[in-house]
Amino acid sequence: MRDKWIVSLEDYRLASRKHLPKMISDYLEGGALDETTMRANERQLKSLMLRQRSLVDVSAISTATSVLGHSLDLPLMVSPMGMLTIFHPGSDPAVARAAVKAGSIFIHSAWAGCSLEEVAKAAPNNLWAQIAFWKDPEETRKYVNRARSAGVETLVVAGDVGSSSKRERDLHHGLSMPPRPPVADYFDAATHPGWLWRWLTGRKMTYGNYDIDGRPLRMNEMNSWMAENKNTSATWEQFAKLRSEWTGKLVIKGIMDAEDAARAVDEGADGVFVSNHGGRQFDSQPATIDVLPSIVKAVDGRSEVYLDGGIRRGHDIAKAVALGARAALAGRPFAYALASGGEPAVERAFTIFRDELKGAMGFVGKTSVDALDDSIFVKNRAPALVSASAYGNER
Ligand SMILES: Cc1cc2nc3c(=O)[nH]c(=O)nc-3n(C[C@H](O)[C@H](O)[C@H](O)COP(=O)(O)O)c2cc1C
Repeated sequence: MRDKWIVSLEDYRLASRKHLPKMISDYLEGGALDETTMRANERQLKSLMLRQRSLVDVSAISTATSVLGHSLDLPLMVSPMGMLTIFHPGSDPAVARAAVKAGSIFIHSAWAGCSLEEVAKAAPNNLWAQIAFWKDPEETRKYVNRARSAGVETLVVAGDVGSSSKRERDLHHGLSMPPRPPVADYFDAATHPGWLWRWLTGRKMTYGNYDIDGRPLRMNEMNSWMAENKNTSATWEQFAKLRSEWTGKLVIKGIMDAEDAARAVDEGADGVFVSNHGGRQFDSQPATIDVLPSIVKAVDGRSEVYLDGGIRRGHDIAKAVALGARAALAGRPFAYALASGGEPAVERAFTIFRDELKGAMGFVGKTSVDALDDSIFVKNRAPALVSASAYGNER
Protein backbone atom coordinates (compact mmCIF):
# COMPACT_ATOMS: atom_id res chain seq x y z
CA MET A 1 0.00 0.00 0.00
CA ARG A 2 1.33 3.43 -0.95
CA ASP A 3 2.11 5.65 2.00
CA LYS A 4 -0.34 8.30 0.88
CA TRP A 5 -3.15 5.74 1.15
CA ILE A 6 -2.35 5.03 4.76
CA VAL A 7 -5.01 6.62 6.90
CA SER A 8 -5.26 4.28 9.89
CA LEU A 9 -3.14 2.04 12.07
CA GLU A 10 -4.95 -0.91 10.49
CA ASP A 11 -3.53 0.24 7.15
CA TYR A 12 -0.07 0.04 8.69
CA ARG A 13 -0.80 -3.51 9.88
CA LEU A 14 -1.71 -4.53 6.34
CA ALA A 15 1.24 -2.63 4.86
CA SER A 16 3.69 -4.30 7.28
CA ARG A 17 2.60 -7.69 5.93
CA LYS A 18 3.90 -6.68 2.53
CA HIS A 19 7.30 -5.77 4.01
CA LEU A 20 7.76 -8.76 6.29
CA PRO A 21 7.95 -12.49 5.61
CA LYS A 22 4.96 -14.30 7.10
CA MET A 23 6.92 -15.86 9.95
CA ILE A 24 8.01 -12.37 11.07
CA SER A 25 4.58 -10.76 10.68
CA ASP A 26 3.06 -13.70 12.55
CA TYR A 27 5.57 -13.15 15.36
CA LEU A 28 4.51 -9.51 15.50
CA GLU A 29 0.76 -9.92 15.13
CA GLY A 30 0.29 -13.14 17.07
CA GLY A 31 -0.52 -13.99 20.66
CA ALA A 32 -0.55 -16.88 23.09
CA LEU A 33 -2.53 -20.12 22.56
CA ASP A 34 -5.97 -19.40 21.03
CA GLU A 35 -5.32 -15.63 21.01
CA THR A 36 -8.60 -15.11 22.90
CA THR A 37 -7.16 -12.43 25.17
CA MET A 38 -5.35 -10.73 22.31
CA ARG A 39 -8.60 -10.37 20.38
CA ALA A 40 -10.59 -9.42 23.48
CA ASN A 41 -8.33 -6.40 24.05
CA GLU A 42 -9.45 -4.80 20.77
CA ARG A 43 -13.00 -6.10 20.84
CA GLN A 44 -13.82 -4.84 24.33
CA LEU A 45 -12.44 -1.38 23.53
CA LYS A 46 -14.51 -1.22 20.36
CA SER A 47 -17.64 -2.37 22.17
CA LEU A 48 -17.64 0.75 24.36
CA MET A 49 -20.03 3.20 22.72
CA LEU A 50 -19.54 6.93 23.05
CA ARG A 51 -22.11 9.69 23.56
CA GLN A 52 -22.12 12.28 20.82
CA ARG A 53 -22.83 15.78 22.16
CA SER A 54 -24.13 18.61 20.02
CA LEU A 55 -23.48 22.34 19.90
CA VAL A 56 -20.41 22.33 22.13
CA ASP A 57 -17.59 24.79 21.39
CA VAL A 58 -14.77 22.46 20.36
CA SER A 59 -12.71 25.05 18.49
CA ALA A 60 -9.77 24.66 20.91
CA ILE A 61 -9.07 21.05 21.85
CA SER A 62 -5.90 20.23 23.74
CA THR A 63 -4.62 16.66 23.92
CA ALA A 64 -1.77 17.67 26.25
CA THR A 65 -1.25 15.94 29.57
CA SER A 66 1.59 14.71 31.78
CA VAL A 67 2.85 11.43 33.20
CA LEU A 68 4.86 11.39 36.41
CA GLY A 69 5.55 15.10 35.96
CA HIS A 70 6.72 14.70 32.34
CA SER A 71 4.72 16.70 29.77
CA LEU A 72 3.13 14.78 26.90
CA ASP A 73 1.47 16.23 23.79
CA LEU A 74 -1.05 13.40 23.92
CA PRO A 75 -1.87 10.67 26.46
CA LEU A 76 -0.10 7.98 24.44
CA MET A 77 3.28 6.31 24.85
CA VAL A 78 5.10 3.43 23.16
CA SER A 79 5.03 0.09 24.99
CA PRO A 80 8.35 -1.75 25.31
CA MET A 81 8.99 -4.20 22.50
CA GLY A 82 12.02 -6.43 22.16
CA MET A 83 13.46 -7.36 18.78
CA LEU A 84 12.35 -4.29 16.84
CA THR A 85 15.50 -4.87 14.79
CA ILE A 86 13.85 -7.72 12.91
CA PHE A 87 11.12 -5.40 11.63
CA HIS A 88 13.33 -2.55 10.47
CA PRO A 89 17.03 -1.77 10.91
CA GLY A 90 16.25 1.71 12.31
CA SER A 91 14.53 -0.11 15.20
CA ASP A 92 14.57 1.41 18.68
CA PRO A 93 16.33 4.74 17.97
CA ALA A 94 13.90 5.44 15.09
CA VAL A 95 10.85 4.84 17.28
CA ALA A 96 12.39 6.76 20.19
CA ARG A 97 13.09 9.80 17.98
CA ALA A 98 9.58 9.70 16.51
CA ALA A 99 8.18 9.59 20.06
CA VAL A 100 10.22 12.65 21.03
CA LYS A 101 8.95 14.54 17.96
CA ALA A 102 5.37 13.60 18.85
CA GLY A 103 5.79 14.76 22.44
CA SER A 104 5.58 11.22 23.74
CA ILE A 105 7.76 8.67 25.51
CA PHE A 106 9.34 5.45 24.26
CA ILE A 107 9.90 2.59 26.67
CA HIS A 108 13.05 0.66 25.83
CA SER A 109 12.81 -3.11 26.21
CA ALA A 110 15.42 -5.05 28.14
CA TRP A 111 15.35 -7.50 25.19
CA ALA A 112 15.97 -4.90 22.49
CA GLY A 113 18.33 -5.27 19.57
CA CYS A 114 19.89 -1.89 20.46
CA SER A 115 21.57 -1.02 23.69
CA LEU A 116 19.99 1.22 26.26
CA GLU A 117 22.84 3.71 25.80
CA GLU A 118 22.28 3.92 22.03
CA VAL A 119 18.59 4.65 22.47
CA ALA A 120 19.23 7.14 25.28
CA LYS A 121 21.34 9.14 22.81
CA ALA A 122 18.43 9.20 20.35
CA ALA A 123 15.95 10.35 23.01
CA PRO A 124 17.88 12.20 25.71
CA ASN A 125 15.87 12.79 28.91
CA ASN A 126 12.88 11.22 27.23
CA LEU A 127 13.27 7.53 27.79
CA TRP A 128 11.77 4.99 30.16
CA ALA A 129 13.49 1.62 30.50
CA GLN A 130 11.78 -1.72 31.02
CA ILE A 131 13.74 -4.14 33.19
CA ALA A 132 13.26 -7.66 34.50
CA PHE A 133 14.54 -9.38 37.63
CA TRP A 134 17.32 -11.76 36.63
CA LYS A 135 18.31 -14.81 38.63
CA ASP A 136 21.57 -13.17 39.60
CA PRO A 137 20.68 -9.94 41.46
CA GLU A 138 24.02 -8.54 40.32
CA GLU A 139 22.80 -8.66 36.67
CA THR A 140 19.70 -6.68 37.65
CA ARG A 141 21.77 -4.20 39.66
CA LYS A 142 24.18 -3.69 36.74
CA TYR A 143 21.27 -2.95 34.40
CA VAL A 144 19.70 -0.52 36.86
CA ASN A 145 23.03 1.29 37.18
CA ARG A 146 23.32 1.51 33.41
CA ALA A 147 19.84 3.01 33.24
CA ARG A 148 20.83 5.58 35.88
CA SER A 149 24.01 6.50 33.98
CA ALA A 150 22.08 6.77 30.70
CA GLY A 151 19.79 9.40 32.28
CA VAL A 152 16.70 7.20 32.56
CA GLU A 153 14.30 8.64 35.14
CA THR A 154 11.64 5.94 35.09
CA LEU A 155 12.09 2.19 35.31
CA VAL A 156 9.31 -0.14 34.23
CA VAL A 157 9.48 -3.56 35.86
CA ALA A 158 8.00 -6.36 33.75
CA GLY A 159 5.93 -8.24 36.31
CA ASP A 160 4.48 -10.81 33.91
CA VAL A 161 7.49 -12.64 32.55
CA GLY A 162 8.13 -15.22 35.27
CA SER A 163 6.29 -17.90 33.31
CA SER A 164 6.84 -18.75 29.66
CA SER A 165 4.28 -18.25 26.94
CA LYS A 166 3.28 -20.61 24.14
CA ARG A 167 2.80 -18.83 20.80
CA GLU A 168 1.69 -21.40 18.32
CA ARG A 169 2.15 -19.31 15.19
CA ASP A 170 5.86 -19.10 16.05
CA LEU A 171 6.05 -22.82 16.82
CA HIS A 172 4.52 -23.66 13.43
CA HIS A 173 7.15 -21.52 11.69
CA GLY A 174 9.94 -23.04 13.77
CA LEU A 175 10.81 -19.48 14.65
CA SER A 176 14.01 -19.12 16.60
CA MET A 177 16.21 -16.11 17.07
CA PRO A 178 17.65 -15.27 14.63
CA PRO A 179 14.97 -16.74 12.36
CA ARG A 180 15.83 -20.25 11.16
CA PRO A 181 12.75 -21.00 9.12
CA PRO A 182 11.70 -24.26 7.53
CA VAL A 183 12.08 -24.45 3.75
CA ALA A 184 8.64 -22.93 2.98
CA ASP A 185 9.58 -19.88 5.01
CA TYR A 186 12.87 -19.49 3.12
CA PHE A 187 10.78 -19.13 -0.06
CA ASP A 188 8.59 -16.63 1.69
CA ALA A 189 11.64 -14.65 2.86
CA ALA A 190 12.97 -14.72 -0.70
CA THR A 191 9.76 -13.09 -1.91
CA HIS A 192 10.47 -10.19 0.46
CA PRO A 193 13.82 -9.15 -1.00
CA GLY A 194 13.76 -5.78 0.78
CA TRP A 195 13.52 -7.45 4.18
CA LEU A 196 15.98 -10.19 3.21
CA TRP A 197 18.54 -7.70 1.93
CA ARG A 198 18.30 -5.59 5.07
CA TRP A 199 18.42 -8.67 7.24
CA LEU A 200 21.49 -10.04 5.51
CA THR A 201 23.36 -6.77 5.22
CA GLY A 202 21.92 -4.62 7.98
CA ARG A 203 22.61 -4.45 11.70
CA LYS A 204 24.09 -7.50 13.30
CA MET A 205 21.37 -9.55 14.88
CA THR A 206 22.34 -9.24 18.51
CA TYR A 207 20.72 -8.34 21.80
CA GLY A 208 22.05 -4.85 22.43
CA ASN A 209 21.83 -4.96 26.19
CA TYR A 210 23.80 -8.08 27.03
CA ASP A 211 27.39 -9.15 26.61
CA ILE A 212 28.80 -12.60 26.70
CA ASP A 213 32.58 -13.05 26.81
CA GLY A 214 32.96 -9.34 26.00
CA ARG A 215 30.81 -9.40 22.84
CA PRO A 216 27.09 -8.74 22.34
CA LEU A 217 24.77 -11.70 22.91
CA ARG A 218 23.70 -13.20 19.58
CA MET A 219 20.04 -13.84 18.97
CA ASN A 220 20.53 -17.59 18.62
CA GLU A 221 22.12 -17.57 22.08
CA MET A 222 19.13 -15.94 23.77
CA ASN A 223 17.26 -19.13 24.60
CA SER A 224 20.15 -20.66 26.52
CA TRP A 225 20.96 -17.29 28.12
CA MET A 226 17.34 -16.99 29.25
CA ALA A 227 17.35 -20.54 30.61
CA GLU A 228 20.36 -19.61 32.74
CA ASN A 229 19.28 -16.13 33.78
CA LYS A 230 15.50 -16.02 33.82
CA ASN A 231 14.14 -15.61 37.31
CA THR A 232 11.00 -17.67 37.85
CA SER A 233 10.99 -17.05 41.58
CA ALA A 234 10.93 -13.22 41.67
CA THR A 235 8.43 -11.85 44.21
CA TRP A 236 7.36 -8.52 45.69
CA GLU A 237 10.48 -8.77 47.86
CA GLN A 238 12.66 -8.00 44.82
CA PHE A 239 10.33 -5.17 43.90
CA ALA A 240 10.58 -3.68 47.40
CA LYS A 241 14.37 -3.98 47.30
CA LEU A 242 14.52 -2.23 43.95
CA ARG A 243 12.25 0.47 45.33
CA SER A 244 14.65 1.06 48.22
CA GLU A 245 17.63 1.35 45.84
CA TRP A 246 16.14 3.28 42.90
CA THR A 247 15.55 6.95 43.58
CA GLY A 248 13.81 7.61 40.24
CA LYS A 249 10.22 6.77 39.36
CA LEU A 250 9.17 3.15 39.38
CA VAL A 251 6.35 1.60 37.35
CA ILE A 252 5.19 -2.01 37.36
CA LYS A 253 3.91 -3.45 34.09
CA GLY A 254 1.69 -6.49 33.65
CA ILE A 255 -0.77 -5.76 36.45
CA MET A 256 -4.17 -7.35 35.76
CA ASP A 257 -5.57 -7.74 39.25
CA ALA A 258 -6.89 -5.19 41.73
CA GLU A 259 -5.15 -6.84 44.71
CA ASP A 260 -1.82 -6.78 42.87
CA ALA A 261 -2.39 -3.13 41.98
CA ALA A 262 -2.99 -2.23 45.63
CA ARG A 263 0.10 -4.21 46.65
CA ALA A 264 2.20 -2.41 44.01
CA VAL A 265 1.19 0.96 45.43
CA ASP A 266 1.81 -0.23 49.01
CA GLU A 267 5.31 -1.23 47.89
CA GLY A 268 5.95 2.25 46.51
CA ALA A 269 5.11 2.02 42.78
CA ASP A 270 4.63 5.42 41.17
CA GLY A 271 2.75 3.89 38.26
CA VAL A 272 0.61 0.77 37.80
CA PHE A 273 0.67 -0.37 34.19
CA VAL A 274 -2.38 -2.48 33.30
CA SER A 275 -1.19 -4.86 30.61
CA ASN A 276 -1.65 -8.46 29.52
CA HIS A 277 1.34 -8.15 27.17
CA GLY A 278 -1.05 -7.68 24.25
CA GLY A 279 -2.29 -11.24 24.83
CA ARG A 280 1.16 -12.61 24.06
CA GLN A 281 1.87 -14.27 27.40
CA PHE A 282 -1.18 -15.78 29.09
CA ASP A 283 -4.33 -16.53 27.12
CA SER A 284 -7.80 -16.77 28.67
CA GLN A 285 -7.48 -13.70 30.83
CA PRO A 286 -9.67 -10.60 30.46
CA ALA A 287 -9.14 -7.65 28.20
CA THR A 288 -7.18 -4.86 29.86
CA ILE A 289 -9.99 -2.32 29.46
CA ASP A 290 -12.28 -4.68 31.40
CA VAL A 291 -10.06 -4.78 34.47
CA LEU A 292 -9.11 -1.10 34.36
CA PRO A 293 -12.03 0.24 36.46
CA SER A 294 -11.37 -2.16 39.33
CA ILE A 295 -7.65 -1.35 39.29
CA VAL A 296 -8.26 2.39 39.24
CA LYS A 297 -10.57 1.89 42.21
CA ALA A 298 -7.98 -0.17 44.11
CA VAL A 299 -5.21 2.35 43.44
CA ASP A 300 -7.50 5.14 44.57
CA GLY A 301 -5.35 7.99 43.26
CA ARG A 302 -2.21 6.84 45.12
CA SER A 303 -0.31 6.26 41.87
CA GLU A 304 -0.84 6.84 38.18
CA VAL A 305 -2.43 4.06 36.13
CA TYR A 306 -1.60 3.27 32.47
CA LEU A 307 -3.10 0.78 30.05
CA ASP A 308 -2.07 -1.01 26.89
CA GLY A 309 -3.54 -3.80 24.79
CA GLY A 310 -5.63 -3.27 21.68
CA ILE A 311 -5.22 0.51 21.40
CA ARG A 312 -5.75 0.99 17.66
CA ARG A 313 -7.66 4.27 17.40
CA GLY A 314 -7.53 7.70 18.99
CA HIS A 315 -10.99 6.79 20.31
CA ASP A 316 -9.44 3.93 22.31
CA ILE A 317 -7.09 6.39 24.00
CA ALA A 318 -10.06 8.56 24.98
CA LYS A 319 -11.88 5.50 26.37
CA ALA A 320 -8.90 4.36 28.46
CA VAL A 321 -8.37 7.86 29.87
CA ALA A 322 -12.09 8.25 30.59
CA LEU A 323 -11.99 5.03 32.62
CA GLY A 324 -9.13 6.32 34.75
CA ALA A 325 -5.87 5.69 32.88
CA ARG A 326 -3.43 8.60 32.99
CA ALA A 327 -2.22 7.52 29.55
CA ALA A 328 -2.63 4.68 27.09
CA LEU A 329 0.21 2.87 25.37
CA ALA A 330 0.39 0.97 22.10
CA GLY A 331 2.81 -1.71 20.99
CA ARG A 332 2.05 -3.45 17.71
CA PRO A 333 0.68 -0.38 15.87
CA PHE A 334 4.05 1.37 16.18
CA ALA A 335 5.88 -1.77 15.10
CA TYR A 336 3.56 -2.06 12.05
CA ALA A 337 4.43 1.51 11.11
CA LEU A 338 8.15 0.94 11.71
CA ALA A 339 8.13 -2.16 9.49
CA SER A 340 6.20 -0.31 6.77
CA GLY A 341 8.22 2.87 6.52
CA GLY A 342 10.75 3.40 9.31
CA GLU A 343 10.88 6.58 11.37
CA PRO A 344 8.64 8.79 9.15
CA ALA A 345 5.91 6.15 9.32
CA VAL A 346 6.12 6.00 13.12
CA GLU A 347 5.78 9.81 13.17
CA ARG A 348 2.73 9.45 10.96
CA ALA A 349 1.28 6.80 13.26
CA PHE A 350 1.43 9.31 16.11
CA THR A 351 -0.30 11.92 13.92
CA ILE A 352 -3.09 9.48 13.04
CA PHE A 353 -3.60 8.62 16.72
CA ARG A 354 -3.62 12.32 17.68
CA ASP A 355 -6.04 13.36 14.91
CA GLU A 356 -8.45 10.57 15.80
CA LEU A 357 -8.22 11.42 19.50
CA LYS A 358 -9.00 15.07 18.75
CA GLY A 359 -11.94 14.03 16.60
CA ALA A 360 -13.31 11.75 19.34
CA MET A 361 -12.87 14.48 21.97
CA GLY A 362 -14.76 16.91 19.75
CA PHE A 363 -17.70 14.55 19.25
CA VAL A 364 -18.02 13.77 22.96
CA GLY A 365 -17.77 17.50 23.67
CA LYS A 366 -14.56 17.53 25.71
CA THR A 367 -11.79 19.99 25.01
CA SER A 368 -9.14 18.76 27.47
CA VAL A 369 -7.77 15.37 28.51
CA ASP A 370 -8.65 16.05 32.16
CA ALA A 371 -12.29 16.48 31.17
CA LEU A 372 -12.51 12.93 29.78
CA ASP A 373 -14.53 10.92 32.29
CA ASP A 374 -17.15 8.20 32.23
CA SER A 375 -19.83 10.68 31.18
CA ILE A 376 -18.54 10.15 27.62
CA PHE A 377 -19.98 6.62 27.49
CA VAL A 378 -23.45 5.61 26.47
CA LYS A 379 -24.17 4.15 29.91
CA ASN A 380 -26.36 1.16 29.13
CA ARG A 381 -24.04 0.18 26.29
CA ALA A 382 -20.74 0.14 28.20
CA PRO A 383 -19.85 -3.51 28.76
CA ALA A 384 -16.45 -2.72 30.29
CA LEU A 385 -18.12 -0.86 33.13
CA VAL A 386 -20.38 -3.81 33.79
CA SER A 387 -18.00 -6.68 33.25
CA ALA A 388 -15.19 -5.68 35.63
CA SER A 389 -17.19 -7.17 38.50
CA ALA A 390 -18.08 -10.20 36.41
CA TYR A 391 -14.36 -11.07 36.37
CA GLY A 392 -14.26 -10.95 40.16
CA ASN A 393 -11.76 -8.14 40.05
CA GLU A 394 -13.69 -5.60 42.13
CA ARG A 395 -12.20 -4.93 45.50
C1 LIG B 1 6.92 -7.76 19.09
C2 LIG B 1 6.61 -7.49 20.52
C3 LIG B 1 7.62 -7.54 21.46
C4 LIG B 1 7.33 -7.27 22.81
N1 LIG B 1 8.36 -7.27 23.71
C5 LIG B 1 8.12 -6.90 24.99
C6 LIG B 1 9.20 -6.75 25.90
O1 LIG B 1 10.36 -6.92 25.54
N2 LIG B 1 8.92 -6.36 27.16
C7 LIG B 1 7.61 -6.12 27.59
O2 LIG B 1 7.40 -5.78 28.77
N3 LIG B 1 6.58 -6.25 26.73
C8 LIG B 1 6.80 -6.60 25.45
N4 LIG B 1 5.77 -6.68 24.57
C9 LIG B 1 4.39 -6.33 25.01
C10 LIG B 1 4.15 -4.83 24.82
O3 LIG B 1 4.92 -4.07 25.74
C11 LIG B 1 2.69 -4.44 25.05
O4 LIG B 1 2.30 -4.84 26.34
C12 LIG B 1 1.72 -4.99 24.01
O5 LIG B 1 2.30 -4.99 22.72
C13 LIG B 1 0.47 -4.11 24.03
O6 LIG B 1 -0.50 -4.59 23.19
P1 LIG B 1 -0.74 -4.08 21.68
O7 LIG B 1 0.36 -4.67 20.88
O8 LIG B 1 -2.08 -4.63 21.38
O9 LIG B 1 -0.70 -2.56 21.69
C14 LIG B 1 6.01 -6.95 23.21
C15 LIG B 1 4.99 -6.89 22.25
C16 LIG B 1 5.28 -7.14 20.92
C17 LIG B 1 4.19 -7.02 19.91
